[in-house]
Amino acid sequence: MESRQLSNGLEIPVLALGVWQIRNGRDCVNAVRWVLDLGYRHIDTAQLYGNGESVGRAARESRLPARSCSSPPSSPRRVPIRCPRPEGSLRRLGLDYVDLYLVHWPQRDHTWVWPGMEKAQRLGYTRSVGLSNNGVGEMDEVMGSAEIRPVVNQVQFSPFEYRRALLDGAVRHQIVVEAYSPLGTGRHLADRRVSEVASRVGRSPAQVLLRWCLQRDTVVLPKSSHRDRIEENAQIFDFDPSDADMADLDRLDRTGGTGEAG
Ligand code: A2P
Repeated sequence: MESRQLSNGLEIPVLALGVWQIRNGRDCVNAVRWVLDLGYRHIDTAQLYGNGESVGRAARESRLPARSCSSPPSSPRRVPIRCPRPEGSLRRLGLDYVDLYLVHWPQRDHTWVWPGMEKAQRLGYTRSVGLSNNGVGEMDEVMGSAEIRPVVNQVQFSPFEYRRALLDGAVRHQIVVEAYSPLGTGRHLADRRVSEVASRVGRSPAQVLLRWCLQRDTVVLPKSSHRDRIEENAQIFDFDPSDADMADLDRLDRTGGTGEAG
């Protein structure tokens, strides 16, 4: 599995399984087992998804030294989390630490929760910390006060959500963008223009959308609970769309190249 280097020197696999909307239980255990068997080494889960136990079980069953990428409580309006509490997530996962711990949604003042994230890293609960759903202004704010720098920012990203200004802002801060919902939760797969590129390159629409994310230097997190699709989604390292194909996909952007995350 290809990986890339984070600003703190650690490596991150560029393809992950996103387990949002995979039911806790057999479906989730199977999906995680399959990806680990296939060579994926990056699972993106969150407390909110309610399937941490299944992710942890699959990782243990696979007998790999698998860790995962997790997020702290993500309902800041209801749960005043000045200091994130990763212990519960780690307990459900059955892990001592994760590789990467993300704060899910920015809150009023985006720097508010960051000292707690730094504390989680200092306490050894995670090797790296990151953001999600942060726009350029929010990344700038966090970077202005961070003692431990966020290494990633996870946002919705695909040719249809080609947030160029956000990507540029992240690059300026040496923050890697992680693309969630790269298939538009399935909606982008049926787009005629995506299918046209797919038939030109001889790949499936899903592979084309995922490859586009890699070509744009992001880490990509497709979700699937089907073994054949999980396999298909991993076959994205052996082709390069042409510049013209990439330009056609770039033109699908509906965000106006925004620096905003949502
Ligand atoms: P399923 O989980 O039933 O396989 P996103 O990653 O943007 O959130 O998209 C996930 C959606 O896309 C899910 O509905 C998933 O369905 C579907 N999906 C994932 N990979 C593929 C694929 N290779 N071909 C078709 N549909 C896919």
